[in-house]
Amino acid sequence: MPLPKAELHLHIEGTLEPELAFALAARNGVGLPYADTDELREAYRFEDLQSFLNLYYELMAVLRTERDFGDLADAYLARAAAQGVRHAEIFFDPQAHIARGVAMGTVVEGLWRALGRSEQTHGVSTQLIMCFLRDESAESAMETLEAAKPYLDRIVGVGLDSAEVGHPPVKFREVYEAAAGLGLRRVAHAGEEGPPSYIVEALDVLGVERVDHGLRCMEDEALVERLVRERVPLTLCPLSNVRLRAVDALADHPLPAMLDAGLLCTVNSDDPAYFGGYAGDNFDAVRSTLGLSEERLRELARNSFLASFLEHDEERRARYLAEVEAYEFG
Ligand code: ADE
Ligand code: ZN
Repeated sequence: MPLPKAELHLHIEGTLEPELAFALAARNGVGLPYADTDELREAYRFEDLQSFLNLYYELMAVLRTERDFGDLADAYLARAAAQGVRHAEIFFDPQAHIARGVAMGTVVEGLWRALGRSEQTHGVSTQLIMCFLRDESAESAMETLEAAKPYLDRIVGVGLDSAEVGHPPVKFREVYEAAAGLGLRRVAHAGEEGPPSYIVEALDVLGVERVDHGLRCMEDEALVERLVRERVPLTLCPLSNVRLRAVDALADHPLPAMLDAGLLCTVNSDDPAYFGGYAGDNFDAVRSTLGLSEERLRELARNSFLASFLEHDEERRARYLAEVEAYEFG
């Protein structure tokens, strides 16, 4: 039995496995510029975040109907459940779909087909976090928030993703204020490729409660002290960091140093279809390559539930935390 955990950094579009991409392409009559799944997998060699994003957005062309989004989410939830994920807070990128003529309602209702019954079908509780694309304009983000208003009962919070460098958090001050006014929780990618100052800005200007990645905080001692003091969770994604070359090799990942510093780290999968593994695979990789002790792994699992947006259901959080404490490593 795998260690129970929450997944807090997962882009649902990044769970599109090559086999499903081809199946959806056939179903929807969409052409893909790859002969087969092997040739597509060959394209999974990334230089940096942008080279990955180019393929990530290209493959989204196959996602067209509610059924497609439901199938995508069901496939993810089945894999996540098998790797011990008990609760998943799932990002989606509506602007990437709306730009292709796929409406917000199609995306949210489609995902909901799977999420709405996930506890029964997969034993996984879920929440949805709507991300703004930071390389699009602030006006576009505000229009996206407006388009989401009919669906806010299904969306717990907002996030910020896509190409980081050159798109600092401050660009999205107004839309985050508006989101907070609607009662939405706030997170943002910061310090993946961007400098530590973006992490500070995400906290001070956007009011985020968690930082996605946050890896580069380690370059700023005062920032690390603050993140520790304020117990700000960081949603790290070790296999992603290797594939996108944020670190040279997994053995060089700062996770052990971050835990030693007292940071509230969690381990997540980001875009598992592209980066070689789901949540449990990321745990296995840091265990074997970084030599994390069982107590460190338990701490990471505990952190994932402490950092999750389960305030509406503290009983559930307590139940998940009890599962973590009772877990016996094999
Ligand atoms: N969108 C999907 N994955 C992402 C990542 N790792 N960073 C920024 N934007 C993303
Ligand atoms: Zn991400």
